[in-house]
Amino acid sequence: MLGPPGAGKGTQALRLREDLRLPYIPAGDMLREAVSEGTDLGRLAKEHMEEGNLVPDDVVIGAILERCEAADCRDGFVLDGFPRTIPQAEALESALDDLGRKVTAVLLVEAPDEVVVKRISGRRICKNGHVYHLETDPPTRPDRCDHDDLPLTQREDDRPEKVRRRLQVYHDQTTPLIEYYDERGLLRRFDGTRDPDEVQDHIRATLSTIRLEERL
Ligand code: AP5
Repeated sequence: MLGPPGAGKGTQALRLREDLRLPYIPAGDMLREAVSEGTDLGRLAKEHMEEGNLVPDDVVIGAILERCEAADCRDGFVLDGFPRTIPQAEALESALDDLGRKVTAVLLVEAPDEVVVKRISGRRICKNGHVYHLETDPPTRPDRCDHDDLPLTQREDDRPEKVRRRLQVYHDQTTPLIEYYDERGLLRRFDGTRDPDEVQDHIRATLSTIRLEERL
């Protein structure tokens, strides 16, 4: 899943996980968990994440690829928020190549900056990564997750000045991946301003077509 902060990558990736029954690998959630557990990875990532910057490639690449190579990922996996730079994409390609595998599709969920700023300001999450929006997708009970009853909080990097920085980082460092994957014929675009169910339907239809084509 590729796209700007707040475009709906996580929302759609979770639905995709249910559809495909494949492991879900969310780079941002993994890094936040490492920070809250105070692991070596977390200590290296913390400051960058708090500033809304990318965690350096040499820190992220090893951690994510190790997860992708785990036994439960043998039949495939859904990657959310990785790669975000050309070196990350090259490292992924090379790791998959070594395993005799390849990226099936890159799903780009797009939304303009003004839309994502509004969305992110209303986002609330639980510790297990379930996502809500105070106006468009509120929990049944205020400040409690419907799935696991955990408290809902606002992410540290969801404050407006951090969101502006994350958007700038996306435009500067991640958008080159759009051309990178387009040139390889892997890019599929989705309008993230549509209703989440409509985005999901479009993703489902696109993946069904890819699966059919791969069998031909
Ligand atoms: P990460 O956690 O991945 O954050 P992000 O990419 O900025 O994306 P978000 O989680 O903000 O947005 P989303 O697109 O998933 O939107 P969501 O579905 O939640 O990364 C955080 C940080 O970790 C980075 O800044 C960086 O420091 C570090 N990091 C992560 N990966 C890295 C990497 N590869 N390399 C280096 N550093 C890395 O939706 C947003 C809100 O909108 C929700 O409230 C949701 O309910 C609502 N919503 C969703 N879809 C819709 C819709 N269609 N209509 C209306 N509302 C919607």
